[in-house]
Amino acid sequence: MSEKQYPTPHISAAPEDFAKTVLMPGDPLRAKFVAETYLQNPVLVNNVRGVQGYTGTYKNVRVSVMASGMGIPSIGIYSYELYNFFGVENIMRIGSTGACQDHVHVRDLVIGMGACTNSAYASQYQLPGAFAPIADYTLMSAAIQKCREAGAVYHVGNLLSSDTFYTDDASALSKWTRMGVLAVEMEAAGLYMNAARAGKRALAICTVSDHILTGEATTAAERQSSFGQMIEIALETAAA
Ligand code: ADE
Repeated sequence: MSEKQYPTPHISAAPEDFAKTVLMPGDPLRAKFVAETYLQNPVLVNNVRGVQGYTGTYKNVRVSVMASGMGIPSIGIYSYELYNFFGVENIMRIGSTGACQDHVHVRDLVIGMGACTNSAYASQYQLPGAFAPIADYTLMSAAIQKCREAGAVYHVGNLLSSDTFYTDDASALSKWTRMGVLAVEMEAAGLYMNAARAGKRALAICTVSDHILTGEATTAAERQSSFGQMIEIALETAAA
């Protein structure tokens, strides 16, 4: 870990401004929506590059919410700074994902027990093999319990955190599908690696916004409602 340094290049706040648990949607507008809709007394604690971070309470537990941006480099920066400079212990990604299995449907939730990736992010660790990025078991089991209580349709398994949303390699996805990967997003593996390196905890909970095999997609209204269920499960997990 690097020496203490804050404000950091990307977060202008003091360490005590953040709660021990941070929810991370990809989109800054979603972070604002979560803070204003679900948190009591939300306070804006960061606004560098318009990446608004808020801290408030949920069921009397302090919780922060701040966007990750898109892709492993972006979530890599924000989660690194939160874990290593701001005393954050738990980061839960709340995002969207594209399903790549027939039994996973739009609006379902996917909990990333693991996150495969085509990114070179792990190369910085110079490991003598391949690292398997995994969720924190305590966070994951609490989230699964909350899914059950909420009656949510959820799947637990591998995500693919891809570096590309648009790809020239049309055959790549079917190879991940035959390895049982449930859905594709772009951040979880980077988050899980940063958590592992920092000795902290991470979990990705995603709603299925589109189906890559069938082309099915959610409407804006459906995305909003399944996003709401995911937020509530993440907040309940934070307060558990
Ligand atoms: N997030 C939501 N849908 C996705 C997709 N199809 N690919 C990558 N990330 C996504």
